[in-house]
Amino acid sequence: ATTRYEAESSPAVCDGTIDSDHTGYSGGGFCNSENASGAYAQFGVTASAAGTATLRVRYSNGTTGARPANVTVNGASGPSASFGATASWDAWTTETITLPVNSGSNTVRLTATSANGLPNIDYIEVDTDGGDTTPPD
Ligand code: GCU
Ligand code: CA
Repeated sequence: ATTRYEAESSPAVCDGTIDSDHTGYSGGGFCNSENASGAYAQFGVTASAAGTATLRVRYSNGTTGARPANVTVNGASGPSASFGATASWDAWTTETITLPVNSGSNTVRLTATSANGLPNIDYIEVDTDGGDTTPPD
């Protein structure tokens, strides 16, 4: 099953501001991180079982350059994300990464690795069971 976690909804943490001055976002807004290396957006992710989860990050990057990030899970370094340019700050796309999760609660943090910070982050969606349709997860 897939669960959506909005960047503006607790327990998510935005190292910046929750903004709504661009169109096309889901929910009440998006995380506009500080424009600095180390800026982050953090999410709480619940997994029904330990294993590999598929994470889709919906973002907008209305510049001409990528805004790369590292992804940590429960403080341990994980995969990187590239977050290439989108057509404008009103255009959103998703980048998919896979990462290990524990059963139960996890903390997933996207941390910018370039001085421009993160792209604007709308939400993450997490599939913790490979997309199967078996209840209850
Ligand atoms: C613009 C844009 C913001 C974005 C910022 C950035 O100011 O309006 O939404 O976060 O650029 O470069 O990060
Ligand atoms: Ca920003």
